[in-house]
Amino acid sequence: MNGIDVSVDIAEIQLRNPVLTAAGPASRDGNSLRKAAEGGAGGLVAKTISVFPAEVPRPCISVVDRNRINLALLNCETWSDIPYQEWIKSEYEIARNTGLPVIASVGYSADDLKKLGPLVEKAGVDGIEFSLHYVGTDYRPILEIAKALRESVEVPIFPKLSPHILNLPEFSKELEKAGVDGIVAVNSYGPSLHIDIETARPTLGGEFGYGWLSGPAIKPLAIRFVADIARSVRIPVIGCGGVLKGTDAIEHIMVGASAVQICTGAILKGPRIYGDVTTEIKKFMVDHDYNSIEDMRGKSLKYLKKESTIKTNPPLTKEELCIGCHLCERSCVYDAIRIEEVEPKKFNVLLEKGKCYSCGMCTTVCPTRAVLYKS
Ligand SMILES: Cc1cc2nc3c(=O)[nH]c(=O)nc-3n(C[C@H](O)[C@H](O)[C@H](O)COP(=O)(O)O)c2cc1C
Repeated sequence: MNGIDVSVDIAEIQLRNPVLTAAGPASRDGNSLRKAAEGGAGGLVAKTISVFPAEVPRPCISVVDRNRINLALLNCETWSDIPYQEWIKSEYEIARNTGLPVIASVGYSADDLKKLGPLVEKAGVDGIEFSLHYVGTDYRPILEIAKALRESVEVPIFPKLSPHILNLPEFSKELEKAGVDGIVAVNSYGPSLHIDIETARPTLGGEFGYGWLSGPAIKPLAIRFVADIARSVRIPVIGCGGVLKGTDAIEHIMVGASAVQICTGAILKGPRIYGDVTTEIKKFMVDHDYNSIEDMRGKSLKYLKKESTIKTNPPLTKEELCIGCHLCERSCVYDAIRIEEVEPKKFNVLLEKGKCYSCGMCTTVCPTRAVLYKS
């Protein structure tokens, strides 16, 4: 599997694999970026800096359900509490010494970016991501921010979109026209709120206890963003949101992402996640005969049609694959499916066609694809 080529090229930034760090606590300084490189990241995106160091409320990171920690996180971490001068003096250099491409993340206003852009460029970063997290929802001022940075630096620039942006296709095209080199989607979603019912208090220390949602819970939102952007522009899209496993990264790639970023996954699993996800991508490529990331990229876009379909045929069943978990039976609100054990570990999948609404739920819960739609 080591022979599989997963390298990608984004705006002439060469990445050994498409799995990048995202701005967050796991990219908070040079040393954490070095650890991400050792953990197998393909490129290093640093924590967002701004003209003033952030005063971060505490607590600032929380799961939303301690019994399902992989579901999602909430955070109110704002941006880096390390002054930009220190990033420029030492932190980017520590990251650059890994030999991997380094992308700075800067925020927020046009004036902030005009000041910080040239400084981080001079510090030798390979590209600049700029966060649109605290700049409102109207895209005209956002375009002005993009133009201000474009005029200030030569290195590739990448706006990172927040999930409240409307008119995504139109907005993406305008960003492309403004000269950005790629688009990152998405940032965390909110404001959101989580209460610890044992204390009746919010888990986070920010304003009203609010935080921003990230992780697997926002993956479908991120996937929709990546697909909408990829259909609208020619510049690369970098997917971010809910990548914990190789299959999550592949989903981003299949809707058009050239690379992915990981934040929540690195908090939950540590820096080895970048290498693990890369290995899982490689395994999927071997198993499915893909030769490159480009081979998989955007493969799903042709199936995303404006017209709805109305499939009324019931799913097919492959009884030999059934493991008797009963998930299909339990989640069939139409009482159309029943699993019967005919002999030890052999099951009949009984589907009552008259009752089946073709809702499709059983085909998506079945872990072995014993109930499936014909493709
Ligand atoms: C604790 C925490 C801090 C974050 N800090 C930043 C940040 O400084 N700048 C930024 O653009 N995004 C920041 N994010 C958002 C992530 O980079 C990412 O866009 C989002 O969490 C979705 O990806 P994920 O599901 O892999 O976490 C932060 C997220 C978390 C959880």
